[in-house]
Amino acid sequence: MEANTGNQSEEVAVVTGGNRGIGLQICKQLASNGVTVVLTARDGKRGGEAVSIILDTLGLSNVVFHQLDVSDPSSAVRLAEFIKQKSIMQQLLGRQLTSATEKLSGERLVNQQELNNIDNLSEERLDELSELFLKDFKDGELERHGWPTEGGFIAYKVSKAIMNAYSRILAKEHPSLCINCVHPGFVQTDMSFQVGDLTVEEGARGALMMALAPKGGMTGGFLNCTEVAPFV
Ligand SMILES: NC(=O)c1ccc[n+]([C@@H]2O[C@H](COP(=O)([O-])OP(=O)(O)OC[C@H]3O[C@@H](n4cnc5c(N)ncnc54)[C@H](OP(=O)(O)O)[C@@H]3O)[C@@H](O)[C@H]2O)c1
Repeated sequence: MEANTGNQSEEVAVVTGGNRGIGLQICKQLASNGVTVVLTARDGKRGGEAVSIILDTLGLSNVVFHQLDVSDPSSAVRLAEFIKQKSIMQQLLGRQLTSATEKLSGERLVNQQELNNIDNLSEERLDELSELFLKDFKDGELERHGWPTEGGFIAYKVSKAIMNAYSRILAKEHPSLCINCVHPGFVQTDMSFQVGDLTVEEGARGALMMALAPKGGMTGGFLNCTEVAPFV
């Protein structure tokens, strides 16, 4: 997004999970590219420390912290207020929303077909599917109802499939924005117990590519690392 600060048009990015892993790397590289970064993290101390590290080690001053827990709607409201106060809301909505995600290749997901049928899908239906999943999880009915239990990490897989579908709904609803999903690859972060194939620098490339792309580019799309790929 861009912020009007006096006569200057300033590029601003909001990064979630910015205190470590791929998010932290994205913050560093965006800031190094002259973008003002709102580094968000759910924990104030961890987020503040990450900002200090970037400012100290890279000698930059264009990174600020704001708390955001993506599972807490009230914290999203506070972040939105902060952005509004900075008069950058309009510009945020005019730019790029990118989510680090992945697709479920080779997975049997009973609702996968429905999730891919983007023309008939709605936000309300995604909420229903989430509720159905949670209910089946609690009732021990996942396998019986065809959720992809093989290989484990089922909640993670389903959340990504729903996230991907949601990004496509958003892209359809907001055609003036660029809203895309990026699979970073298998990256050496805490999440992968540092055993990924890619460094965080490599894993951040796709998201950076999208975030720094000129306005009016791809929307509703999926990037496998840095290559455009189908969602399924
Ligand atoms: N690494 C991979 O191979 C890989 C592959 C495919 C997709 N991805 C996706 O890439 C993204 C980043 O992963 P990563 O590998 O960089 O993981 P990571 O190093 O474990 O970092 C995860 C980040 O997410 C933050 N986070 C967790 N829950 C949150 C919440 N409720 N609200 C806000 N932030 C929250 C964590 O904050 P705390 O420090 O407070 O926990 C941390 O900053 C994730 O969406 C992941 O699914 C990663």
